[in-house]
Amino acid sequence: MALITWDDSKFSVNIKEIDVQHKKLVELINLLHDAMKAGQGKDALGKVLNELISYTVSHFGTEERLFQQHGYPDIAKHKKEHEDLKKKAIELKTEFEKGAAMITPNVLNFLRDWLTNHIMKVDKAYSAFLNGKGVV
Ligand code: FEO
Repeated sequence: MALITWDDSKFSVNIKEIDVQHKKLVELINLLHDAMKAGQGKDALGKVLNELISYTVSHFGTEERLFQQHGYPDIAKHKKEHEDLKKKAIELKTEFEKGAAMITPNVLNFLRDWLTNHIMKVDKAYSAFLNGKGVV
């Protein structure tokens, strides 16, 4: 069973480009979960983890560009959340590569909770503002 099931009513921010990216992040976390459950080796897990991190960084860039272009007032607070997660993700990747950490259910639960809470609370807060600027 997937770790996260996409549900428009819970996760959609009403902006097509962003929903597509969030769905991809959900898919990558689910893939990492499946790989861990299937007992796949370090190389396979590392590949998915790298893809998840680089896609996350590029997704944050998309949102921050939209904030900049349209003068979103909560940009600093939102960017800080992105920076904190990037830092944690890079720490996790470094520890994983050194062999000091594994992809465990706790790590995956952290990623799931972070993503779903961030989308539902922090991302959804920009929907109305950006929709009002014609971003849909
Ligand atoms: Fe969709 Fe703010 O990350």
